[in-house]
Amino acid sequence: MTDRLDGVRDHYRATGLTERLKAVLAAFGPEDQPLTPQQLGTLDQFHTRGLAATVELARLAGITAGSAVLDVGSGVGGPARFLAAAYGCKVTGVDLSEPFVDAARYLTTRTGQSAQVAFQTASALELPFDDARFDVVLLQHVAMNIADRAQLYREMRRVLKPGGRFATYDVVLKGGEPHYPLPWARTPATSWLLEAGVTREAIEAAGFRTLT
Ligand SMILES: C[S@@+](CC[C@H](N)C(=O)[O-])C[C@H]1O[C@@H](n2cnc3c(N)ncnc32)[C@H](O)[C@@H]1O
Repeated sequence: MTDRLDGVRDHYRATGLTERLKAVLAAFGPEDQPLTPQQLGTLDQFHTRGLAATVELARLAGITAGSAVLDVGSGVGGPARFLAAAYGCKVTGVDLSEPFVDAARYLTTRTGQSAQVAFQTASALELPFDDARFDVVLLQHVAMNIADRAQLYREMRRVLKPGGRFATYDVVLKGGEPHYPLPWARTPATSWLLEAGVTREAIEAAGFRTLT
């Protein structure tokens, strides 16, 4: 298990990511000038279809201003910042990669959203939260890096309040094994794709009922 997580961590090592982001963002003005989530929109949504996909998923999840939202595998935090800005909700992000969490915190400071959006380094398989803490849990383009799907979906279910919603948008297997390298894995050693139906079965086995 640890070997697998180490392999994924290594894939998302991103040494010096925050410094590289600072260099790119200098184009928008000096460090002390606030950035809008929109300005970051092209570089902080780390999944297919970018911000449009996050907008759709958020709508399906039924997020409101009062929602406590958890974004699992939050990357550099674009989805979390968008949700907080669009709905006024509080969002917590967790990610396995320390450089990504560091970058997410930096970008959130730059958008002035640190009171609403927070990030922690943690594994999706062992979430550092009490049971029944969140109204909504989001998972976007993360499951393909996780072998133990049963444990992944059980953890989401555990931290959701009764009646809470789990919303996911992920890569699924279709038409045979893919060719590597891929954005989330250089080799099959860190990629665990499942077909859509098998993914749904694993989610439902954790106690979820599919809404759409
Ligand atoms: C393709 S990125 C997606 C980031 C974000 N969800 C987004 O859509 O912008 C995948 C992210 O999942 C994280 N990740 C992979 N395995 C994880 C695990 N076991 N626990 C927590 N995060 C994980 C990676 O570190 C990476 O930041």
